Amino acid sequence: DWTPEHVLESLVKEVRERVGEDRVLLAVSGGVDSSTLALLLAKAQVNHLAVFVDHGLLRLGEREEVEGALKALGVNLRVVDAKEHFLKALKGVEDPEEKRRIIGREFVEVFSQVAREAGPFRFLAQGTLYPDVIESAGEQGAAKIKSHHNVGGLPEDLKFELLEPFRLLFKDEVRELALLLGLPDPIRLRHPFPGPGLAVRILGEVTEEKLDILRRADDIFISLLREWGLYSQVAQALAVLTPVRSVGVAGDERKYGYVLALRAVTTEDFMTADWARLPLDFLDEAARRITRRVPEIGRVVYDLTSKPPATIEWE
Ligand code: XMP
Repeated sequence: DWTPEHVLESLVKEVRERVGEDRVLLAVSGGVDSSTLALLLAKAQVNHLAVFVDHGLLRLGEREEVEGALKALGVNLRVVDAKEHFLKALKGVEDPEEKRRIIGREFVEVFSQVAREAGPFRFLAQGTLYPDVIESAGEQGAAKIKSHHNVGGLPEDLKFELLEPFRLLFKDEVRELALLLGLPDPIRLRHPFPGPGLAVRILGEVTEEKLDILRRADDIFISLLREWGLYSQVAQALAVLTPVRSVGVAGDERKYGYVLALRAVTTEDFMTADWARLPLDFLDEAARRITRRVPEIGRVVYDLTSKPPATIEWE
């Protein structure tokens, strides 16, 4: 019968037997699936290299948090600082799908380079879950709303056998494994975060200055949700930096600041979603804190749109 301990034991055995003395490569995004997969490889004591590409589109402190946790738990992790590379590729780009394509392409390029330098590897491990297996089986005809960025499309000269130990598991089961493997709660219980990161939360062109503003504002919002015990009651929460500047007052001067949108949703499956009824006192405090600590932001609004017709992200 099914217990997390039992599942973990059989996955460790499966990975060990399949991999043997060969080498495994994997990409770590900082999300719960890839982090747990890295921990599973470490636990199975197979020869592995986990690659974390810092594309410069991460949230405040995210890289350090993931790096610290995984290394402490025995993962052989290499962090690649590719911030400048990505920012350069995104320069002047405003279209969301174009941003996604560029980020996907650059990701493959950076990752492939590491794979070549550190290779050869026989296996590529991926944190594919059961719902992904089902979805890609039925995906052919379905119109895709957004081109979700994935590790696919590696160059011809890099050939791997896929290792997908979670292919029969659901997200909740991976979270249970993560608990057994010691993944810290902030990573284990983290909301989903898109592969293209903050690039699709800055409407229009992505610049270093805008990333810095959004990172600080997002951190205040998310930290406050945790403080109020609201973080786990919503499925996803995010801040969006709009290109709109509105007028405000600072002392006796008129000042133009960015409009920041806060969004929080409840959902079962992310296909449809409802906007979260966060307490007004909470929203009041979030707006005050953000405008006080991030002076570049002049106005804070809360998104009252469900999905459909809106999507969860703004791009
Ligand atoms: P939307 O905005 O389509 O988002 O309602 C549904 C879920 O998917 C996430 N999302 C992405 N994840 N790459 C990803 O890995 C992407 O390009 C992407 N776009 C949206 C979004 O955060 C939400 O959880």
